[in-house]
Amino acid sequence: MTVFPANAENIDKLAAVIGAGEAVAFPTETVYGLGVDACNDTAVAKIFEIKGRPQFNPLIIHIRDLAQAEALGVFSPIAKSLAEAHWPGALTLVVPRRSDNQAHNEVSLLASAGLPSLALRVPAHPVAQALLAAAQCPLAAPSANKSGQLSPTLATHVAKDFPNLPILDGGACAKGLESTIIGCLEDDPILLRRGSLDPAALEETLGHHLRYLPEDDSQTAKLAPGRLVRHYAPQAHLRLNAETIEAHEALLAFGTKIPSYAGLCLNLSPTGNLTEAAANLFSYLHELDAATHRIAVMPIPDEGLGAAINDRLKKAASSK
Ligand code: TXA
Ligand code: MG
Repeated sequence: MTVFPANAENIDKLAAVIGAGEAVAFPTETVYGLGVDACNDTAVAKIFEIKGRPQFNPLIIHIRDLAQAEALGVFSPIAKSLAEAHWPGALTLVVPRRSDNQAHNEVSLLASAGLPSLALRVPAHPVAQALLAAAQCPLAAPSANKSGQLSPTLATHVAKDFPNLPILDGGACAKGLESTIIGCLEDDPILLRRGSLDPAALEETLGHHLRYLPEDDSQTAKLAPGRLVRHYAPQAHLRLNAETIEAHEALLAFGTKIPSYAGLCLNLSPTGNLTEAAANLFSYLHELDAATHRIAVMPIPDEGLGAAINDRLKKAASSK
């Protein structure tokens, strides 16, 4: 039995599962989410593995209130007015990450696919609120469906895709459609994804019309707004599938058989574990990028999470 009625005892039980670095499904007023501790890189890597996503799309980070959101992200006066008017609710705000929270509670770089921004949402559903309070950490949570499937609005929908996952049953999601996503990275906010919060309500708060994504963008781009936001791209030059290392290169290694090398080297997973490699990918890229101009990257097996890692490395290598 993996479906748990959402009572206080089960909420505490599933909060402990989150604390142990595992994923649980929980209801929000929009759709069910698949949540992990957003500050735990390995737990976040498991989300991509469980969902079967071929790419690392950035995830929505769920928090309890605006105060917790402001500890993680930078809110312009406009972003703050949107949050104050529509949180808790079906609104996700993309804001710059705070750079001064390194010491504690840092949200995993994998959760934002390496981007210097965070998508933040305070859900209104009492079960989501209770779980956030019990887990005492921000929850990275995409919709609780396999990649390419419909978003779930009942616990039984989640159980169909993920029969072995613990699911908190909070009944049917009242709205049944994902949250509306607004980008607040520039002065003028922009609608990144339509969702269950009517843009007219947001325009009323703003006192003017919202900017929309350009109409001529392809249908795929509309379906995956993350693609429209620039991918994380290192400054350094990346050389992929490197079997040897050249002078002045740093090495992003993988596995047990690494070339002997005296220079800077970070191993994504010394045991050749792809979940561990995914968990380390963006933080190691950031670290090497800060230290060097040329990075040699060893071959990564193109299976499971390896396909998503290779997708991201290829984009990073071709971004120059
Ligand atoms: O209603 C919802 O929003 C549900 C519930 C569970 O909260 N969640 C949801 O998550 O729909 P997901 O992962 O299916 O969609 C997240 C979207 C992605 O399309 C992604 O591109 C965008 O949010 N996103 C996340 N972080 C972003 C960022 N830093 N910049 C731009 N877009 C971002
Ligand atoms: Mg989804």
